[in-house]
Amino acid sequence: MSILAQHLKLGGEGNKLMDSDSNMRQLSLACGKWEGIIHHYRRFLPISDSTPIVTLCEGNTPLIRAKAIEALIGCNMRVYLKYEGTNPTGSFKDRGMTVAVSKALERNYKIGICASTGNTSASAAAYCAKANIKCVIVVPEGRVALGKLSQALAHGAFLCPIAGSFDEALNVVRQICEVEEIALLNSLNYERLEGQKTAVFEICDTLSMAPDFHIMPVGNAGNITSHWMGYKEYYRNGFITSLPVMIGVQAYGAAPLVIGRPVENPETIATAIRIGNPARWREAIEARDESGGTIIAVTDDEIIAAYKLLAQKEGLFVEPAGAASVAGLIKLCREGFFESALAKRRANGSEPTVVCVLTGHGLKDPQTAMSLSSMPEPIPPTKEAVLKAIKANLERG
Ligand code: F0G
Repeated sequence: MSILAQHLKLGGEGNKLMDSDSNMRQLSLACGKWEGIIHHYRRFLPISDSTPIVTLCEGNTPLIRAKAIEALIGCNMRVYLKYEGTNPTGSFKDRGMTVAVSKALERNYKIGICASTGNTSASAAAYCAKANIKCVIVVPEGRVALGKLSQALAHGAFLCPIAGSFDEALNVVRQICEVEEIALLNSLNYERLEGQKTAVFEICDTLSMAPDFHIMPVGNAGNITSHWMGYKEYYRNGFITSLPVMIGVQAYGAAPLVIGRPVENPETIATAIRIGNPARWREAIEARDESGGTIIAVTDDEIIAAYKLLAQKEGLFVEPAGAASVAGLIKLCREGFFESALAKRRANGSEPTVVCVLTGHGLKDPQTAMSLSSMPEPIPPTKEAVLKAIKANLERG
C-alpha cells in the first residue's frame, strides 16, 4: 500500500458495497431501464466479468434537432445537438468516469486523482463516492466554475487548489501517479476515452448513420480523440458506412492546436477549455487530418452569442465551453466551409447532417449566467405591480 493510502487510512477497507456480484447487479437494476453505457455498449469496452461496474446510469443523452439554429445559419443542413449536460453530473465526463472508476476498483485502488478545469473533478468525485474510494482533485485556484466546485465538495472529494494553471495541475498529478498507487482519472487514462466514445455510438444509433460533420469543443483533446475512435470503431464493425468530418473548436485565447504551439497563459470565459498544452495533442491532429476536418478558434463574444442562442431559441442551457461547438458551426457557415466540404464529399442529394456536441450543463457556471443578465429590483406583492412590470417588460421587447 502506498504511503499516501496509509496516511488517508483507507488501506484494506475497500468497498464493501461492491464486494459481491449480486450487490452489483442490484445496484445496476436500481438504475431502471437504461443501465448506463457499460451495460449498453459492453462489448466495445474493456470490461470483463470480474470488473465491478460503478455506474450512475450515464449516457442515453438526447439528440435534439435545432430548427431555430438551422433557420439562422441557412446552410441547408440538419443540425442536431447532442446534449451531454443531461448526464448524471452534468457533463460528458461521466461516460469516461464510469469505465475509469470501475477499472480502478477492479485493480483494488483505494484512491483516485485528477487535475481538472472542473467537470472531470465533479464527475470523479461522484463516481468515487459511489465506489466508496477516496477522490483527490487538483484544480487551478480561482478558475473553476462554482457549480463544479460545489459538486466536488458535496461528494466529499479532497480538493487541492493550486496557484497555477490546469496544465501545471496535470503535470503534478502525472508525477504523483508515477510514484503512488493512485488511480489516474484524467483522460491520459485510456479507459476514460473508451467510455467517452459511446457518445458517438448513441449518435449513430439514433440517426441510423454517421453525421456528415461532427463539431465539438476542444480543451485537453481527450474527447475529440475518443469520438474519432468511436466513429472508426463503428465503421470497422459495419454499423456505419461513412465517417464524419471532425471539427474541433477552441477558444481564441486558448487555441494551441490552431496556432500550432502551446499557449502559456490561456484565457477564455469558457473556463472548461482554458488549456494551453493539450495532453492529447497528437491524437487531436490525427482526428482532424484523417477525417479531412479542421480545428478552429472562436472568440469569447462568439461563444456568448451561441450560449444565448441555445438558451433563448433552443431552450438548452449549456456552460460556455459547451456552446463553443455551435459558435464554431455559425462561424464556419458564414465562411462557406460547409458548401465547399460538401461539394467534395457527396452528390447524392440528401440533406447533410451536422451534430454539435453540447458538452456541459449551464448550471455548472451560474456566475456567468448571472453576469450576462441583470436581476430586476423587487416590486410590491400586488397584482397591479406585477402587471405593470410585465407591461413594461413587453414594451421593452
Ligand atoms: N467541454 C467541457 C464542458 C469540458 O469540461 C471540457 C473539458 C471540454 C469541453 C473539452 O474536452 O478536454 O477532452 O478536449 N474539461 C476538462 C475538465 C479539461 O477538467 O473538466 P477535452
